[in-house]
Amino acid sequence: MNSIAVLGAGKIGESLLAGLLQAGRNADELMFTERHPERAAQLTAEYGIEHVDVATAVRRADVLVVAVKPQDIEPLLDQVAPLLDAATLVVSLCAGLPTKLYERRLAEGTPVVRVMPNTPMVVGEAMSAISAGSHAGDEHLAVVEELLSSVGKVVRVPETQQDAVTALSGSGPAYFFYLVEAMIDAGILLGIPRATAADLIVQAAVGAATMLRDGTEGHPTILREAVTSPAGTTIAGIRELEKHGVRAALIDAIEAARDRSVELGRAHD
Ligand SMILES: NC(=O)c1ccc[n+]([C@@H]2O[C@H](COP(=O)([O-])OP(=O)(O)OC[C@H]3O[C@@H](n4cnc5c(N)ncnc54)[C@H](OP(=O)(O)O)[C@@H]3O)[C@@H](O)[C@H]2O)c1
Repeated sequence: MNSIAVLGAGKIGESLLAGLLQAGRNADELMFTERHPERAAQLTAEYGIEHVDVATAVRRADVLVVAVKPQDIEPLLDQVAPLLDAATLVVSLCAGLPTKLYERRLAEGTPVVRVMPNTPMVVGEAMSAISAGSHAGDEHLAVVEELLSSVGKVVRVPETQQDAVTALSGSGPAYFFYLVEAMIDAGILLGIPRATAADLIVQAAVGAATMLRDGTEGHPTILREAVTSPAGTTIAGIRELEKHGVRAALIDAIEAARDRSVELGRAHD
């Protein structure tokens, strides 16, 4: 699988192209489609990757990565379906679109892999969960794993778990941003200038995330207990979090996000 076409080079599509180049892919193995000629020219100037039309992308690519907004999928499939044969692997990065939507529209036997990425892809720290459609095998999942590991971490999940994944790692960065905002506000309340409060909290978040991911003891409970000393400052704060039901609120928030993902997905049944 050499030649990769990204259909829709927006935020996620561009991040993937940049990550693939950084991982050592040649620009001439990559191509993209894009509706705005100025943006296409700017991407080609920046990355040296060819801008092509959909027909060329379908003809030349071994792997078609679909990175348009979910609401733009139908007109795109109208263009792709008559041209595509079942030898091409289709990788969908579109939130909420089931593999069966593609399978209904594309040539019988087309392998489709559904991906739920997240925005940290723009800094090479995505969490991507991948699921095989009914014609995609281990070899197709392996291709997608290799592709997406250039922009972060990849896990395989059954497609039935994609709504839960959407709520956890898809929406997850937004919940961390929300927590950081609230903690910066607390800094303001305590008389710390906004810029200093932001520096303190963002670095605390980066440090905590690095300990969770790379530390020798990555379990969150053990890490939290290690900074919660008897009669100390941290436990005084934790009591307030418990009093306000923050743990239950987070669980409810993620459940609500999962339910909304299920609801949005019904539009494509
Ligand atoms: N951003 C995220 O946090 C995130 C997270 C997880 C999954 N995703 C998924 O990733 C996909 C892309 O999201 P994004 O944030 O990168 O969106 P985006 O920035 O809007 O990028 C989509 C791009 O595709 C272009 N496009 C639409 N239809 C096209 C067509 N027929 N041919 C060529 N180009 C076309 C759009 O052009 P116009 O500007 O003209 O519309 C736009 O440049 C979505 O399906 C989304 O669900 C995104």
